[in-house]
Amino acid sequence: MSFELSKEQLMIQKMARDFARKELAPLAAERDEKHLYPADSLKKMGELGLLGMLVSEKYGGEDMGTVSYALALSEIAAACASTAVIMSVHNSICCGSIEKFGTEEQKQEFLVPMTAGEIIGAFALTEPEAGSDAQAIECSAAKQGDHYLINGTKRFITSGKNGGVTILLARTKPEGSDAITAFLITPDMPGFKVDKVEDKMGQCASDTVDLVFTDCKVPVSRVLGEEGKGFTVAMSGLDAGRIGIASLSLGLAQAAMDEAVKYAKQRKQFGQPIANFQGLQWMLADMAIDIEAARLLVLNAAAMKDRGENCTMAASMAKCFASEMANRVTGHAVQIHGGYGYIKEYPVERFYRDARILTIYEGTNQIQRHVIARELLKKGK
Ligand code: CAA
Repeated sequence: MSFELSKEQLMIQKMARDFARKELAPLAAERDEKHLYPADSLKKMGELGLLGMLVSEKYGGEDMGTVSYALALSEIAAACASTAVIMSVHNSICCGSIEKFGTEEQKQEFLVPMTAGEIIGAFALTEPEAGSDAQAIECSAAKQGDHYLINGTKRFITSGKNGGVTILLARTKPEGSDAITAFLITPDMPGFKVDKVEDKMGQCASDTVDLVFTDCKVPVSRVLGEEGKGFTVAMSGLDAGRIGIASLSLGLAQAAMDEAVKYAKQRKQFGQPIANFQGLQWMLADMAIDIEAARLLVLNAAAMKDRGENCTMAASMAKCFASEMANRVTGHAVQIHGGYGYIKEYPVERFYRDARILTIYEGTNQIQRHVIARELLKKGK
């Protein structure tokens, strides 16, 4: 077993780190405060290949593998978690699902501009009455000849306002295990409307909106995968997505620890840097242990995916542990900063807010534990 990253992986990590520190970090606080979508930065990320990291070269992607992707996403998150979640949903769930389930025409039509950063992907599963219980969605798609009429509301959709293509999950049958179908929706479709824009606690530069569909006419050619197989499209997309959220958690926590170390060395109390006090040293040590453990889980899940192994359980473990770890670590970072950790002048205040959603989106950690337990019990059969 080798824990060493390849030359190529180190190069990609450095490229993402340089970009994140130069382009994203200086703007992150302002974007958060003013809720500014990072459109310019996303264009540059497209040029650098960061928006098609898992897509094959045939469709304009870089085919860099999940380990490289996880490393790059962590670097982006260390500078701006809002940009990182947009990158994660776009690469892991959207590009990944189109490449895996799309027709040749769909891949040409969507993957090529997505990898170039010309359009960003969104994923619309959640509804007002269907969060953890994803099979309870009510949004309906009624087939009428060569098209479907879609009606319903989707909630909490990342990039729903600024995205150029949305993977929508809708009900094509009242019930049954083959009742849900995935569709590729573009904002130009009549009957598609961006509704309520949420005012959130954190990750404020990424838009989170309601999407409302009223007799939205979607051609049959926009079905992603087979009719009735949409839940599998969603779940397999979420396996990949959860590795993305775990990578984001890792980068955010690393950034918080780096700030805490810097501050603890600078801040003097009782005539000496507070880093001299064992109470703080042990907090820093716990943060470092937590981060390292999460890193191994994240990279293991990513490597399993690259080897083509079933990574459902590993992805849920990585997401669950890394997101809780990021909440602990950002909390410690605020504590180490004392009163200065609670004001917006120091980045740890934003990191702490940005971390809170990590245990909730892409499946709450209660759902991750359900998935892990279920996989575990299956193995024991
Ligand atoms: N890969 C492929 N297929 C899978 C799968 C996986 N990991 N997991 C399940 N499936 C398939 C099953 O094989 C089954 O197919 P068949 O009926 O053909 O056998 C089908 O999907 C149904 O599976 P389950 O019986 O397991 O379904 P369930 O109702 O028990 O639900 C659940 C399982 C794990 C609770 C699921 O509902 C779930 O993950 N809920 C959480 C939803 C979620 O993560 N939402 C996040 C929204 S997106 C987001 O947050 C993005 C963002 O903005 C950042």
